[in-house]
Amino acid sequence: MNFMAKKRILLGVSGGIAAYKSAELVRRLRTAGAVVRVVMTRSAKEFVTATTLHTLSGEPVWSDWSDDKSGMDHIELARWADRILIAPATADTLARIAHGRADDLLTAICLATEAPLAVAPAMNQAMWNNKATQANVDTLRERGVRVWGPATGEQACGETGPGRMLEPDALVQRLSDSFANGRLAGLKVVITAGPTREPVDPVRYLSNRSSGKMGYAIAQAAHEAGAQVELVSGPVALQAPDGVTLTRVESASDMFRAVMVCLEDCDLFIGAAAVADYRPVEPQARKIKKQAAELLLRLEPAPDILAAVAALKSRPVCIGFAAETENLQEYAQKKRMQKGVEMIVANRVGAGLGFETDDNELWLVWEGGSRWLPKAPKTRLACQLIEQIADLYLKQPSGLKAPEPHAKHSA
Ligand code: CTP
Repeated sequence: MNFMAKKRILLGVSGGIAAYKSAELVRRLRTAGAVVRVVMTRSAKEFVTATTLHTLSGEPVWSDWSDDKSGMDHIELARWADRILIAPATADTLARIAHGRADDLLTAICLATEAPLAVAPAMNQAMWNNKATQANVDTLRERGVRVWGPATGEQACGETGPGRMLEPDALVQRLSDSFANGRLAGLKVVITAGPTREPVDPVRYLSNRSSGKMGYAIAQAAHEAGAQVELVSGPVALQAPDGVTLTRVESASDMFRAVMVCLEDCDLFIGAAAVADYRPVEPQARKIKKQAAELLLRLEPAPDILAAVAALKSRPVCIGFAAETENLQEYAQKKRMQKGVEMIVANRVGAGLGFETDDNELWLVWEGGSRWLPKAPKTRLACQLIEQIADLYLKQPSGLKAPEPHAKHSA
């Protein structure tokens, strides 16, 4: 959905090579219906001209203090904006905002505004990974600044890594989502759901009883809370909730690959899928024929998607599930530590419980807290879970922490 009609977007452009994309960004914002005013830093003018941005926005462009004709433009612009987005945001601009500097028009506006502020970092990967930049980004996040990106890939300097500015389309989507009415507005959530199928031969597979109902209900609840949701699902008989992007997969390896593709710029990862722990070592190319003797099937561990996401250097906040037949609380606590995730959502499985049912009960555990969600339909539990996640995630500083030594640097 497009929530951009008549929204007043102040676009800050700072001086990096990605500034050439800001012209396209202005065009896309206007196509989406927004009113766009641009404030450039002095060095941004080395990469893109004020005339270009003025022509595309149809509004004046500000840069130096000399453009602040009334002496109060910076205050008026700060009040005018519904949202401020700085794209590209260089390492220097991030540092100056983190330190509350007001030595140019753009940083002064950031200091004076009460509008939500988002930044789209763009810089060399070593500059992004530098502890100073990461500390500045952490500070900004703690103050509620939304950090969108950077993407990982080939860079203008010839290196490869995190530091590419998100594409204009993705930034327009983020801005649009941020106007949606909900607590997760502006956040991207990737969710896995359903079982996986591990092939034995062309006609047989190993799988489990997961119906996908819980994961799909969570996807719907996250979407209703305003998040951009990508659902990666094993084979289930369910329709994707409206507004949720669905990728269908079969095996644990397929799911692993699909999740890694979706993770770019992801804020929250929720692993609700019942992923196979083991898979046949050698799936047969031909159907296995019946024989008199016993048949031994050799299994090897399947990739652990949740643990792999949690181990990434640049990673979202991770929430895992634990389906247990006994010792629910003890196993859930252990699983949180082993997988290195911020929260575990535990439920009992067994006769009439958990899989294939419409009701469930959940026990949530995170660093410093836990909560029972008593038996209720999965759709209601999903909303309560998303509410709890939002409460903790949006707390300043965030109440969702990875256990040591998995403490994260999220991107
Ligand atoms: N998970 C995963 N990849 C796997 C196995 C599990 O991503 N190969 C995720 C599930 O989506 C869930 C969490 O890990 O969020 C817990 O899965 P579970 O199977 O309960 O835990 P295991 O680590 O497999 O432990 P055990 O089976 O011994 O209980």
